[in-house]
Amino acid sequence: MAQSAGLMPPGPRAPASWQLLRYSLSPLPFLEDCARRYGTPFTTRWAGYGTFVMLTSSEAVKDVFRGDSQALHSGEGNEFLSASVGRNSVLVLDGDHHARQRRVLLPPLKGERMRSFFDAMQTITLESVQTWSPGQTLAMLEPMQEITLKVMLQVVLGIKSPAQFSEFTGKVQRVLELGRGRHGLILIKILPIDLLQRTRWLPFFRRMHDLDVAIFAFIENCRQTALAERGESVLADLLKASHEDGRPLSDQEIRDALVTLIFAGHDTTSVALAWILEQTLPRADVVQRITDELHQVTAGELPRADQLNQLVYLDAAIRESLRLRTIMPFVVRLTKSPFTAGGRDYPAGVVLCPCSHLVHQREDLYPEPQAFRPDRFLEKHFAADEWFPFGGGNRMCLGMAFAMYEMKVVLSTLFSKVLLARPPGCRSAPIRRGIALAPHDGAIMSVAKRLS
Ligand code: HEM
Repeated sequence: MAQSAGLMPPGPRAPASWQLLRYSLSPLPFLEDCARRYGTPFTTRWAGYGTFVMLTSSEAVKDVFRGDSQALHSGEGNEFLSASVGRNSVLVLDGDHHARQRRVLLPPLKGERMRSFFDAMQTITLESVQTWSPGQTLAMLEPMQEITLKVMLQVVLGIKSPAQFSEFTGKVQRVLELGRGRHGLILIKILPIDLLQRTRWLPFFRRMHDLDVAIFAFIENCRQTALAERGESVLADLLKASHEDGRPLSDQEIRDALVTLIFAGHDTTSVALAWILEQTLPRADVVQRITDELHQVTAGELPRADQLNQLVYLDAAIRESLRLRTIMPFVVRLTKSPFTAGGRDYPAGVVLCPCSHLVHQREDLYPEPQAFRPDRFLEKHFAADEWFPFGGGNRMCLGMAFAMYEMKVVLSTLFSKVLLARPPGCRSAPIRRGIALAPHDGAIMSVAKRLS
């Protein structure tokens, strides 16, 4: 029988502002500490955001991921993002409107359309790798950021010319560098965001406006271009798409979709790549297996698109890194009516959070959870409630297939061109960087030698 809705799971009694501050400053230790003290599920209250329940049992996570989209809202829980991604963004919508936006955005991010970006991904990676010289020390997050942003700009806007790359890269970076602060979660609740957005007193909104001007001009330009010349990009798709009543998408709707994909798809993937290098490079056995596999498949040549799915160990190493190095610790679902998860009844108005960070540490699923062991993913298929760095259900990351594909292209190209090493004694701690948790030092590596 389900437990009564009046009884919320236990959790810290400290004031909600204190709990928000603790989570903002050290998210993972806060979650781990609560799980140790109160068990799971546990309840935490964050000033301005509401009551959050962290879920880790397979049953509870499954219930939430299978939950009805009218009963569980995610967009409302993400409302604070609308100042940058806009009110039409798939991230902040719920219900039918959300489902329609997903249908428009998904096709270019999977299947053949996604694979058609292989050459662009590889060329962009090679251009970056060619600038590295033996002996050089690099915080890997920086080149990974440059690569993933260029890929996103090409996929989303169809940009190919160096001048346009540099214009948009500069403008996007200038916005994101201000949005990456550790105190973002707190500031967004204290400041009068609507007023600041209209008046553009804050540099963040001035820079956002600057990016918007460039994007609206780009959309207008593309509208004037003949269909065939627009090429393949999400923007070209959106210009052809229409609402169910036949109306074309407005410029504002298109802008919100483009900014959503660029913002959601770039920082997350670059951080994931930096963590994968941070995890794999200090382990000689793992690097050896990645390079042996690459050599077996490509015979020392650059990897080709048709060879990617033979790189099963690389795939497992990526999955293991996403398990062990949390990018987003949990996902959010606001209950709109009473909801039962894991045999417990919750009232409306509570944010239920399948917590990937804590599930990925469960000893019963991952024996010796702190050990980096890609073989786990070769020996067993983990269910959607056991491994979910990309969330799940009807809100599952729209870019999951794309990100997995892009990471494989970037890493296989990189491992076939250079030998990197982790300088002894380096340790990377996770810190908040916008919505993602990134290595505090950017994952320092040195270039040991070029392979060809
Ligand atoms: C390693 C890279 C990435 C990680 C770890 C990641 C993770 C996530 C997570 C945890 C969510 C929330 C899912 C949920 O609520 O259940 C999400 C949503 C989303 N992601 Fe990603 N993501 C990554 C890459 C990308 C890329 C490359 C794109 C776009 C090209 C993208 C676009 C989106 C969008 C649009 C959503 C909102 C989906 C919705 O609300 O329906 N992400 N992502």
